[in-house]
Amino acid sequence: MSRITVIGGTGYAGSAIVAESAGRGHQVTVLSRSLPEAPVSGVTYLQGDASDEASLARAIEGAEVVVAALAPRGSLSHTFRDVNRTLARLVDAAGVPLYVVGGYSTLRPAPGADRFVTDLSGYPEQFHDEIRMGAAIILEDLPATPESLDWVFVSPALRFGAFLPGERTGSYRLGDEVAVAPEDGGAISAPDYALGFVDLIEKGEYHRAQVNIGH
Ligand SMILES: NC(=O)c1ccc[n+]([C@@H]2O[C@H](COP(=O)([O-])OP(=O)(O)OC[C@H]3O[C@@H](n4cnc5c(N)ncnc54)[C@H](OP(=O)(O)O)[C@@H]3O)[C@@H](O)[C@H]2O)c1
Repeated sequence: MSRITVIGGTGYAGSAIVAESAGRGHQVTVLSRSLPEAPVSGVTYLQGDASDEASLARAIEGAEVVVAALAPRGSLSHTFRDVNRTLARLVDAAGVPLYVVGGYSTLRPAPGADRFVTDLSGYPEQFHDEIRMGAAIILEDLPATPESLDWVFVSPALRFGAFLPGERTGSYRLGDEVAVAPEDGGAISAPDYALGFVDLIEKGEYHRAQVNIGH
């Protein structure tokens, strides 16, 4: 059993990770601005803004693992990278691993091929800024952190999100920075992504690395 803090643990990805973690007996703490309509039993929910360093520090105090599940949208549409950099600094100082809910765009369709983000022409223009901001976390910000920070960036398959149905199949495929279903980008439901995500936390086999989870 570990003490796991999930920053943004009431969102689409975060709430699935919270449910999976709590279901396995981990002691889970969540930070978000509002409380969930359907809280997970046994989880500690803290209300606060991740843009406020003191709120972040309070949420990660005593944690053995920290999960970043914020999104580069809404109130964080301009500050997402700064907030994640502050979080990374605090987690590094705490000496615990950081697992980041990432995006699909920084995966490669095949070994050695360009990452999807290098050509966004197939994606609606209104999402380009959001995609690039999320991509910068793994392309620039996490690699620039001190070596002492143990991070894992966990990309989902292309079809993942609140707009899609999320059935639990109980299985997933794990890849590195090459998408596990390159031919069509693949899909992963939130419960199965969370299953793979918490397996990664429990096994602790990856360090300063990008991985991806797809069906
Ligand atoms: N296929 C893909 O590549 C794909 C698809 C979907 C998502 N993603 C990635 O997954 C990550 C999570 O996305 P999501 O869809 O799960 O996001 P989401 O549903 O919007 O959830 C965001 C979470 O962060 C919290 N939050 C937002 N602003 C906050 C603030 N200022 N302070 C504290 N908490 C705050 C929200 O709660 P409050 O609003 O109550 O604060 C919520 O818990 C993102 O990096 C996203 O890019 C990737």
